[in-house]
Amino acid sequence: MMAAPVAGQAAAARPPASAIAASGVRKVYSTASGPVEAVAEASFEIAQGEFVSILGPSGCGKSTLMLMVAGLEATTAGAITVDGMPVTGPQIEAGMMFQDPTLLPWRSVLDNVLFPVFMSRTVTPEDRARAEQLLRMVDLWPFRDKRPRELSGGMRQRVALARALIQDPGILLMDEPFSALDAITRDEMGLSLARIWDSSRKTAIFITHSIREAIFLSDRILVMGRRPSTIIEDVRVPFPRPRRPEVEADPAFNALYLHLKASIHRSPPLQ
Ligand SMILES: Nc1ncnc2c1ncn2[C@@H]1O[C@H](COP(=O)(O)OP(=O)(O)OP(=O)(O)O)[C@@H](O)[C@H]1O
Ligand SMILES: [Mg+2]
Repeated sequence: MMAAPVAGQAAAARPPASAIAASGVRKVYSTASGPVEAVAEASFEIAQGEFVSILGPSGCGKSTLMLMVAGLEATTAGAITVDGMPVTGPQIEAGMMFQDPTLLPWRSVLDNVLFPVFMSRTVTPEDRARAEQLLRMVDLWPFRDKRPRELSGGMRQRVALARALIQDPGILLMDEPFSALDAITRDEMGLSLARIWDSSRKTAIFITHSIREAIFLSDRILVMGRRPSTIIEDVRVPFPRPRRPEVEADPAFNALYLHLKASIHRSPPLQ
């Protein structure tokens, strides 16, 4: 999101939700102690407006996969496309959220939300109107003039969510955005995200270690296996939208939870 604009990637050229496709994607990092294969092979398609979570054991390559979709890491082999166009550099239209909200401490909440626009061009009154709309949506408009240190962890992540949406991105990429929050705040954030996502229906990739969070939020869940990492499951989540907290009481929710849990903990095949 804070990446420099790339020539030829005009924001206006994209519809408000984009399709993502990965075909035979592999990633090998070169390190001082030799090559590390972070992703062995990943192929998937995500339709426009689909919310897809990625689950998998620590170190299986989830973040690496997302960084390749964002164009922030190059693929070693295979190809990723967004709306049919190969990803060859940073996707400036991608809204991103990480575990750490990475807000600028000396800027107000409002200016943090506007920061990606500020980095790419002159901020217009329309941008300010959109920032206001987003801050109202995340219930932070009364806090617009505060500095990040004056906010709670959950509020900071809501600023990060508004910032991720400020340029009306075609895709929303979230890497464990709620992992550092306490359980109650985390549940509230899940509900907020579900509500906000319902109103925008952005194509979303959401990485989490919480199986329940993934089921609650997603249309589909991909499970990555231990290294050599590939996608070992692609499961459709059958519950209607808008999602209500009561869905967790549905026996089908629990059945899916147990199925995914077994899948994540499945031992790697003996070599
Ligand atoms: N920049 C890098 N340079 C070298 N190796 C890396 C780099 N980033 C990740 N790796 C390695 O690639 C593998 C996959 O890492 P990655 O961060 O993608 O996993 P992850 O599934 O996101 O894990 P977690 O759930 O703990 O966040 C790991 O073995 C990691 O050590
Ligand atoms: Mg990660």
